[in-house]
Amino acid sequence: MAKIVILGGGFGSALAVVLHGIGHDVTLWSAFAEEIEAIRRDGEQKAKLPGVPIPQSIHLTTDLQALSECDLALFVIPSKFVRETVQKAAPYLAPNAVVCNAGKGVEDGTLKRMSILFAEEMPQNPYVVITGPCHAEEISRGIPTSLVTASANMDAAAYVQKLFAAPYIRTYLHDDVCGCELGGALKNIIALSAGISDGLGYGDNTKAALMTRGLHEITRLGVALGAKRETFSGLTGLGDLIVTCTSMHSRNRRAGILIGQGVSPEEAVRQVGTVEGYHSCHTAYALAKQEDVEMPITEQLYHILFEQGDVNVVSKTLFARPQRSEYESFP
Ligand SMILES: NC(=O)c1ccc[n+]([C@@H]2O[C@H](COP(=O)([O-])OP(=O)(O)OC[C@H]3O[C@@H](n4cnc5c(N)ncnc54)[C@H](O)[C@@H]3O)[C@@H](O)[C@H]2O)c1
Repeated sequence: MAKIVILGGGFGSALAVVLHGIGHDVTLWSAFAEEIEAIRRDGEQKAKLPGVPIPQSIHLTTDLQALSECDLALFVIPSKFVRETVQKAAPYLAPNAVVCNAGKGVEDGTLKRMSILFAEEMPQNPYVVITGPCHAEEISRGIPTSLVTASANMDAAAYVQKLFAAPYIRTYLHDDVCGCELGGALKNIIALSAGISDGLGYGDNTKAALMTRGLHEITRLGVALGAKRETFSGLTGLGDLIVTCTSMHSRNRRAGILIGQGVSPEEAVRQVGTVEGYHSCHTAYALAKQEDVEMPITEQLYHILFEQGDVNVVSKTLFARPQRSEYESFP
């Protein structure tokens, strides 16, 4: 049994249920007293995970002091709030505690992946990313799920793999932290685009094309940034792309559907909540320019999200590009 503190009460509450069910001593921390109070009062995370009981033996707190004795600090915070949370948490952590990130995003503005951010803020703690195709609504109900733990420190990755071992969870090890993090962040861009396609009333043909060509451009950018190409055909690339582009659990896809139906991007994000693809698109657009990598789907999504582009004309723009071979664009 490990002492685990989970930071973040959305997907974090699902992982709290999972890890507590495995038999660990779990504390769920939130920055918001009202979120903790609501979970305590309702016995569930009604706003984000309705119908999944949160056992009373999961400790609930807003006090970061809980971190001082933990074996694992698991961060499950939207990427734009990760740095401030990590900075506040760092003084409480023992140097040998493993830190793990389950969020999927890249820091807006700095364009940094989360492993780089954690290395800057918590350099003494071994860092692991846990990612892969996983909806909170499913894993919290014991639906069979496969995940990946990746780290520069394979002992730490294997430790987190072991902590998550359950009859319905199979976790694989990976050494490509860069590829695993980028797969999780960049697929949200394609999920938003797939949602727009659905919202416009396009069909399975269009979505299959978006997913496949989307995976090509994500891979191109990932490889340019130092990731391994094969990582993108695994659980953290293709696997996560499938789960995000095809499910109504995906907030990225749901936001895309609204945009395709004519809702403004800002309003769609306001209605849906955390839409990591909105921020990842901004970041990926900048990274693609920096690395001189062609990302036509990302460019068109950027145009829609940040330049008032018309959703009704982007498919024409994408299809009007010069004819080419399917693989000639690979670097
Ligand atoms: N929801 C899922 O099924 C799922 C699955 C895999 C990965 N993720 C990733 O996990 C991350 C969190 O997603 P989520 O679904 O829990 O999002 P969410 O918006 O539902 O909840 C995030 C939680 O983060 C905390 N939070 C919000 N703002 C904060 C702030 N300013 N400071 C500190 N804490 C704050 C709150 O406790 C909140 O409940 C995202 O990167 C997401 O991509 C989510």
